[in-house]
Amino acid sequence: MGYRDVYEGWQADPEGFWMSAAEAIDWDTAPSKALDDTRAPLYEWFADARVNTCWNAVDRHVEAGRGDRVAIIYDSPITGAKRNISYGELRDNVARLAGALAARGVTKGDRVIIYMPMVPEALEAMLACARIGAIHSVVFGGFAANELAVRIDDCAPKCIIAGSCGIEPGRVVEYKPLLDGAIEMASSKPEFCVILQREEAQADLVEGRDHEWHAFQDGVAPVDCVPVEGNHPAYILYTSGTTGQPKGVVRPTAGHLVALHWTMKNIYNVDPGEVFWAASDVGWVVGHSYICYAPLIAGNTTVVFEGKPIGTPDAGTFWRVIEEHDVKALFTAPTAFRAIKRADPGGDLIKDYDLTGLRTLFLAGERADPDTIEWAQSKLGVPVIDHWWQTETGFAIASNPMGIEALPVKIGSPSVAMPGYDVQILGDDGHPIPAGELGAIAVKLPLPPGTLPTLWNAEERFVSSYLTTFPGYYETGDAGMIDEDGYLYIMARTDDVINVAGHRLSTGAMEEVLASHPDVAECAVIGATDALKGQLPVGFLCTNAGTSKPDGDIVAECVSLVREKIGPVAAFKHAVVVDRLPKTRSGKILRATMVKIADSDSYKMPATIDDPVILDEIKEALQTIGYAN
Ligand code: COA
Ligand code: AMP
Repeated sequence: MGYRDVYEGWQADPEGFWMSAAEAIDWDTAPSKALDDTRAPLYEWFADARVNTCWNAVDRHVEAGRGDRVAIIYDSPITGAKRNISYGELRDNVARLAGALAARGVTKGDRVIIYMPMVPEALEAMLACARIGAIHSVVFGGFAANELAVRIDDCAPKCIIAGSCGIEPGRVVEYKPLLDGAIEMASSKPEFCVILQREEAQADLVEGRDHEWHAFQDGVAPVDCVPVEGNHPAYILYTSGTTGQPKGVVRPTAGHLVALHWTMKNIYNVDPGEVFWAASDVGWVVGHSYICYAPLIAGNTTVVFEGKPIGTPDAGTFWRVIEEHDVKALFTAPTAFRAIKRADPGGDLIKDYDLTGLRTLFLAGERADPDTIEWAQSKLGVPVIDHWWQTETGFAIASNPMGIEALPVKIGSPSVAMPGYDVQILGDDGHPIPAGELGAIAVKLPLPPGTLPTLWNAEERFVSSYLTTFPGYYETGDAGMIDEDGYLYIMARTDDVINVAGHRLSTGAMEEVLASHPDVAECAVIGATDALKGQLPVGFLCTNAGTSKPDGDIVAECVSLVREKIGPVAAFKHAVVVDRLPKTRSGKILRATMVKIADSDSYKMPATIDDPVILDEIKEALQTIGYAN
């Protein structure tokens, strides 16, 4: 069967399609039906089933006699460490950690925050939570204490599991002071913390609250998997929205298992036992779905890579990992390839390695520019597959389904809608518009299994953020078009989310931080195009009348403030002081026009602008920091 047949098969009988995919999962109680639409437009899948994620990702492979198969390859060029963990060892490690958590009172439904670098223990912590039905929320290490505090207050974890440090090129990022600061700031306090001490930084433990990872598990009895309801939240993953308050995307247990398992063969074309590598971070959705869960659910070997595409030690690292571990499919963000291409434009380092095992390169997380795709294709000699998805969906909305049929690649398009997704382009009036025309990208409800059923403790926000603009549809927040052949093109966000090195960030959240500076009266942040990171935030600051502080000092303080409040990952390094911001007569800041000016693109003078001269002032200010040339 080709893609068309599979997609039409799903369209003809969506519930039948997913019930059949559900046969790949080990159920404690099989679902009696697929979709529960009694609360439409809120939907749930496999709600009456009982199942355990950890069983499906780990134990069942051991029970089937494959305990010796490698589950996790840990490869850390930044520390020099390398280690393989078999499914059998993983089961034992996870059962022990889960036992220790349970012994301390963590039970089904309790939240556990995980704040860890790219080490296998991060996956073990996630799986240990899944084993006992606790709901984990992994927080990316590049976020500052304040961001961690916001998440602690939102999900009120009973426990926080953290590493003592992460390691960035040239510096050790001590997590413990950030963790202590976050707990201090938060009004909700965890009962206890578990700290994995790393050689590069030993953390001071708070007596009575903090436990060292190994001591915590000493002498504790391992525990078995606890079956949970199909609609039980497997995890919460916070992602950027339009304000400083991140959205807690909820991942439902059963749909997650069914959908992710389906993708491993049908989209990524890997078979059980093969090595799959997602070069991302466990703090992002790509890390949740494709470093941890999907490869393990499908019985693959996953790679936990603690390093960067360049500089650890060079732009050949990815090729070394692919050769050494016989990686069949690599998944990363286009930024990683732009970094490699910049460091080794001729791809000379590729020639030092045998990459014949690699079948496909998958890219997602941000727009894949044609130059990067073409470079990767020509240097690697394998198909380069752009695919499009979001934290909210947990797996691809559009892709080229390599395990079903390798469709012709159209560079600039993440290809076609996956089964489960009825993707439509809508005009301002909410009606579908013809092929080739630009509009808002929306998905007809219900979304498929595994996608978010709601936001954590924020059902109203879920409805107003995603389901209200276009009744009957999920609003993706992306704009684009579909061509005559059904290929999608993702052009821009319709909100203030920007994408910096594949990391999703909110300019609104940065504006909130800038506005808190005592000398800033008004501000705006835009995402300007960047050749390496895709986009970079640029801030515009209007200072209070009578401020005596030099502009340069205010800019420097604002740059530090964003780093301190949001974290280094925001990559907020450029800001300018301007007299006024360009606005419409109704007071809306013309951010889209400012982006065009920064990028030196042509733009139409907005008809509603209150004073066109301001745009010249913006251009001059941008030129002082290297934009708008
Ligand atoms: N913990 C602490 N700090 C972190 C961090 C982490 N886990 N990850 C990144 N940071 C810091 C970086 O050290 C950097 O700090 P600096 O301002 O002091 O230099 C800052 O956050 C910005 O990081 P990043 O945007 O990643 O830029 P970079 O210059 O360090 O690296 C790339 C550039 C392209 C090599 C890097 O972005 C990369 O590997 N991207 C791959 C994309 C990816 O994995 N995306 C995930 C979604 S699929
Ligand atoms: P995240 O939730 O961090 O995965 O970010 C999701 C957003 O990243 C999407 O809404 C898009 O704006 C963008 N994105 C992800 N994948 C792609 C892609 N293949 N092409 C263009 N944009 C993408």
